[in-house]
Amino acid sequence: MRIDVVSIFPEYLDALDLSLVGKARRDGLLDLRMHDLRAWTSDRHRTVDDTPFGGGAGMVMRPDVWGRALDDVLGPDVLAGESTGRTVLLVPTPSGERLTQRLVEDLARADRLVLACGRYEGIDARVAEHYTEDVETVEVREISLGDYVLNGGEVAALVVVEAVARLLPGVLGNPESLTEESHGRGEGGALLEYPVYTKPAEWSGRRAPEVLLSGHHGNVARWRRDQALERTVRRRPDMISALDPQELDRADRAILARQGWFVPAGASAPVPVRIRPGRPDEAQALSDLAAATFPLACPPELGADDITAFIAEHLSPARTTEYLTDTDHYRVQVAQAPSGLVGYTLVVLPRTPDEPPYADDVAALVPDRPAAELSKCYVYPEYQGTGVAGALLGAAAAQAAAVQIDGQPLRTLWLGTNADNWRAQASYRKQGFATAGPRTFRVGDQLMDDVVMVLDLTSHRDDVRQTTPPPHGRS
Ligand code: 6GU
Repeated sequence: MRIDVVSIFPEYLDALDLSLVGKARRDGLLDLRMHDLRAWTSDRHRTVDDTPFGGGAGMVMRPDVWGRALDDVLGPDVLAGESTGRTVLLVPTPSGERLTQRLVEDLARADRLVLACGRYEGIDARVAEHYTEDVETVEVREISLGDYVLNGGEVAALVVVEAVARLLPGVLGNPESLTEESHGRGEGGALLEYPVYTKPAEWSGRRAPEVLLSGHHGNVARWRRDQALERTVRRRPDMISALDPQELDRADRAILARQGWFVPAGASAPVPVRIRPGRPDEAQALSDLAAATFPLACPPELGADDITAFIAEHLSPARTTEYLTDTDHYRVQVAQAPSGLVGYTLVVLPRTPDEPPYADDVAALVPDRPAAELSKCYVYPEYQGTGVAGALLGAAAAQAAAVQIDGQPLRTLWLGTNADNWRAQASYRKQGFATAGPRTFRVGDQLMDDVVMVLDLTSHRDDVRQTTPPPHGRS
């Protein structure tokens, strides 16, 4: 590959004699040529800039000087459309498109790159226009390194040369380094790279992670992927939003769920879901949510009328407003996705420390009091099985563990669920609930077989805090 760099400070790029790029040049893999823009000036002062038309601060680089320079560097064949290779003219500017690894990979496939490094307020806009529209065989890309301002394009030229050169065949000693690194096309989509360690195994009182010293390749690979996912969530949530769910296995999804990202059914990407206390203005949204999901969890023998009556009595906006405002008796946690609320839990607090929960059959199964009832856990179907319910339950339990009734901390969170609903029971068990025994439960004039499950808040207290998703840094 040939790369030409035109600048008023060609010595700026002297560093490209060093290291891998220097070696690539000496090995003939990279033909890199620097040019001093002032060689194409025609006045005694070697002027390259002038004041901006329309006024304003700073100076603008003249199109005539740049035109002569670029025509010469591109050469007559390219200008006449007689070269067969692919030539890309790169113009670094803070107003360019972002330089990404994808673009670098594309540039590495060109035959020639020409970098036009502007200074001051930039290059007269007609230069990029001219080479875009009037010279068919040249592809023009205005590129930016990021959202900050540099004094000129030379640093960008250094960046492009180094990033492109290491992708050229034969430049890297070990081409495998290209497959695993940050922004590479790893198996599960683009993630930041995991942290790396080397000898000594202990330094400054810190041991390298044991799993890396274990020699167990499967565990090492899983640990590295977990670290890459966690790091990417924290530092680059935009990259998580760009992951393809098909590339995420169960373990990936569990890690993401712990960090507050979930993959709803049919979604094209993970979405951030924040778990937080419900607000009084959310009664309607929560009531809609309950009305849509309650019937799905009902056993088939329950009639439509009974379901409708139950919804009207317990899940109406008016009742939900009570749950959200009467903090002496209720705690509500909601799951907020970008699309709106997708789930909630309702905990009913006891009025007195020893209040027998609910009814006698339950009271016998819940001896450790004060005990609060996890009365509802509703999640829209597309978010069921994603981990949102688990995150909600964790937050509800953590919140309940901090509640005191007449100075006594809650000891138990209990719930009743349909005896045949194995999926719900399995999901509660995963959150630490244990089955305490059977009870019956009335919906309309139907008596349903339920099971009571209990969560010990005293021993669970610290665990629960750890599994509560942290708030999102940015999203
Ligand atoms: Cl490519 N040029 C300049 N002057 N400033 C920048 C940049 C480029 N990328 C980020 N800031």
